[in-house]
Amino acid sequence: MKHIAIFASGTGSNARKIVDYFRDNEHVKVNLIISNNANAPVLEMAKDNGIDTFIINRDYFYDSTQILSELNTFAIDFIALAGFLWLIPTYLVNAYNQAIVNIHPALLPKYGGKGMYGMNVHKAVYEAKEKETGITIHFVNEKYDEGAIIFQATCSISSEDTPKEIAKKVLQLEHQYFSKVIDDILMTTNK
Ligand code: GAR
Repeated sequence: MKHIAIFASGTGSNARKIVDYFRDNEHVKVNLIISNNANAPVLEMAKDNGIDTFIINRDYFYDSTQILSELNTFAIDFIALAGFLWLIPTYLVNAYNQAIVNIHPALLPKYGGKGMYGMNVHKAVYEAKEKETGITIHFVNEKYDEGAIIFQATCSISSEDTPKEIAKKVLQLEHQYFSKVIDDILMTTNK
């Protein structure tokens, strides 16, 4: 059995999709949700699904490596960042080499980097009058949005689309593909 931890700081709609996708899976189980926001709605979803949660703060995350023991306790093999906005520290990247993935709401390498998250991304895409946008799922390294790209999917943007409508289209793609891509990685690697 492979165990996944999801790191999420917000609504957690992607986290919910991942939990739903693997609910009855015999080989993969989501058994921990980690957040830096004690009020994040994703924690409610975890509770409803009987999944353990863990709240972190900056000191804990960056000035110690204690989270590794926590991840060990839950036998975590793989980490999915689903709306988690903090940079992953080197000790964690090294401990989970090629076993941490992030979903980004644009076609990297465009519209990535520090500060590029959520609506900031969609507004930038809108202002640049892009004709298409999409999602990128990538391995995580020590830099924002720079790890190797695993998967991208695109959607078109019409001239009437507002940033809000762009966000909706992109989120739909995220929900459609993120769990499946995680499943494929887990099936094809020994992570
Ligand atoms: C998602 O759109 C995800 O791509 C984005 O945060 C949203 C979380 O939504 N992540 C980033 O912008 C990371 N740079 P959710 O909480 O409903 O899953």
